[in-house]
Amino acid sequence: MPLMAAVAFLSYLIGSIPFGLVLTALSGNGDIRKIGSGNIGATNVLRTGRKGLAAGTLALDGTKGAFAVFCAFVLCPFHTLAAESLAAIFAVAGHCFPVWLKFRGGKGVATGLGCILALMPGVGLCCCALWLIFAKVTRISSAGAIIAFAALPLLMIRPGRIDFSSPAYVAGCLIAAMILIRHHANITRLLKGTEPRIGQKSA
Ligand code: G3P
Repeated sequence: MPLMAAVAFLSYLIGSIPFGLVLTALSGNGDIRKIGSGNIGATNVLRTGRKGLAAGTLALDGTKGAFAVFCAFVLCPFHTLAAESLAAIFAVAGHCFPVWLKFRGGKGVATGLGCILALMPGVGLCCCALWLIFAKVTRISSAGAIIAFAALPLLMIRPGRIDFSSPAYVAGCLIAAMILIRHHANITRLLKGTEPRIGQKSA
């Protein structure tokens, strides 16, 4: 049990690194929390006009999710799936509610995708595909993210093989719930028709 607590704590710390905020500040583009939607994720970093910074944020936020799951795999060889699932939940929680930013973090999309890709690669690829397809068709990043993570509990179902109490299934559902809750303002804007398209400056 102390090992599982250590995995949760380490994963939270890994997830809480606000790469979007750090990269934007280091590149002299100011505080990303004062730009566009105020979110620290790649979609909002793109509103600075710096595509490379946005790509770097997406890659690093995704990698930290996968890295947290990998650390759990290394640290807990005897209860790997439970530890990896716990790591995924806490990495996304760390991104969404980082202690360094008074618990006001990002929306968890890239970190969630990184975790799901590491935990369930096939499901993760389907989730990424849904996100990319709907973001491209609608030109609205949040629409892709909301659809991809709303679909996640369904994507994890394999006829005749699903165990709803499996750690991975529970992790997927909790991650989807966290990400959807963090998109509450986007959902309101989508319903009002005021959600900005990809690259559009204001939110
Ligand atoms: O990854 C977050 C995205 O879904 C929405 O970002 O900045 O438009 O609220 P933003």
